[in-house]
Amino acid sequence: MGDRQDPGDGLRVVVLDHTGAVGGAELALIRLLDHLDDDIRVHTILFSDGPLAELMTEAGHDVEVWPLDPRIAAADRRASGGTRLTALVNALRVLPYAVRLGGHLRRLAPDVIHTTSLKADLIGLVAGRVARRPVVWHIHDRISPDYLPAPMVQLLRGLARWAPSRVIVNSAGTAATLPNAKSLAIAYPGFSPAQLGPSPVTRDSPCPPVVGIVGRISPTKGQLEFVRAAAMVLDRHPEVRFLVVGAPLFGEDAYDAEVRAEVETLGLADAVVFTGFLADPTVELDRMSVCVHASGQPEPFGQVIVEAMARGVPVVATRGGGVTEIVQPTPQSEPLGWLVPGHDVAALAEAIITVLERPDLARPRALAAWHSVQERFSITRTADTIQTVWRTAADR
Ligand code: GLC
Repeated sequence: MGDRQDPGDGLRVVVLDHTGAVGGAELALIRLLDHLDDDIRVHTILFSDGPLAELMTEAGHDVEVWPLDPRIAAADRRASGGTRLTALVNALRVLPYAVRLGGHLRRLAPDVIHTTSLKADLIGLVAGRVARRPVVWHIHDRISPDYLPAPMVQLLRGLARWAPSRVIVNSAGTAATLPNAKSLAIAYPGFSPAQLGPSPVTRDSPCPPVVGIVGRISPTKGQLEFVRAAAMVLDRHPEVRFLVVGAPLFGEDAYDAEVRAEVETLGLADAVVFTGFLADPTVELDRMSVCVHASGQPEPFGQVIVEAMARGVPVVATRGGGVTEIVQPTPQSEPLGWLVPGHDVAALAEAIITVLERPDLARPRALAAWHSVQERFSITRTADTIQTVWRTAADR
């Protein structure tokens, strides 16, 4: 994005994200950028270099890296702001960066600044003030003490009431964690037409059966519970194989090692395969008989579940947050998969076994899910909602 041109050129947006890694929010961002109206031009600024910049450039998106002190960029969201003092120290360290970024944004003069991670939300507010441009927060995390340090929750909830022009969230579950936020819009992360598989009616059951989990390897995602449930499933069905798709991205290497050690301890080494990071898990999803989502606490959204449903794969998922909205849209509706309580390994194993043993139950649910996600979670709908928010914020 060069110097500001005629307003007639269309809407100009700068996206800010702190990370160079490719997490769920970043995959959702790339998909969004792929499906925007032609009159919208987006320039993305990342606060660290890494695979995300490469992936975005390959996809033809305009991206620039503005390096932030790596210690701050890489700090785990659970540790950062753990006490008021560390929060203050980090804020002071980051201030000069935010002001410089604001100067850069003033030169770029976009109509809207869109921030897509918690660190970018905070830095973006300062930079947006300097640049005098409206800031839209796009929140992908639950702003709740079971997810973030308490001072961070207070800060974000307080600011959400007045500081950004608009707030976008990824589910009603996330919205509920931001009471009284200003002008809140829900934009469910949608999947693209290319991700849609054929109807599950035509799907062959993989042989031997494969049970998979897809996502960043992290204590919040429950891979440990997954491998413990795998041991229980194997007691009944020794032929089943298990896939762990994903990698630790934000300093979760110790947890990754713990999961792998548990696989050894439980004697599952021959039955469990770790694929590492995959930007597109479609091939792995197509190999699965069941896709498991095992987050111990409520998940903000859970786009992997939607992706599995779009491939016609039966889903077993832990209840809470956006997951409940995906799997059981209303309390009255028939579930589109199986919901189990978080941290309950036995319930997880039992539900997996039910899916494996009862195709007469699993198939109709997978078919209903396949139809439902096409109605509710298309990327065009996501893009429409977000573009409307941008246009409104830019008009003010
Ligand atoms: C984050 C959330 C995840 C959500 C994704 C897209 O990765 O943890 O629940 O699906 O963002 O909004």
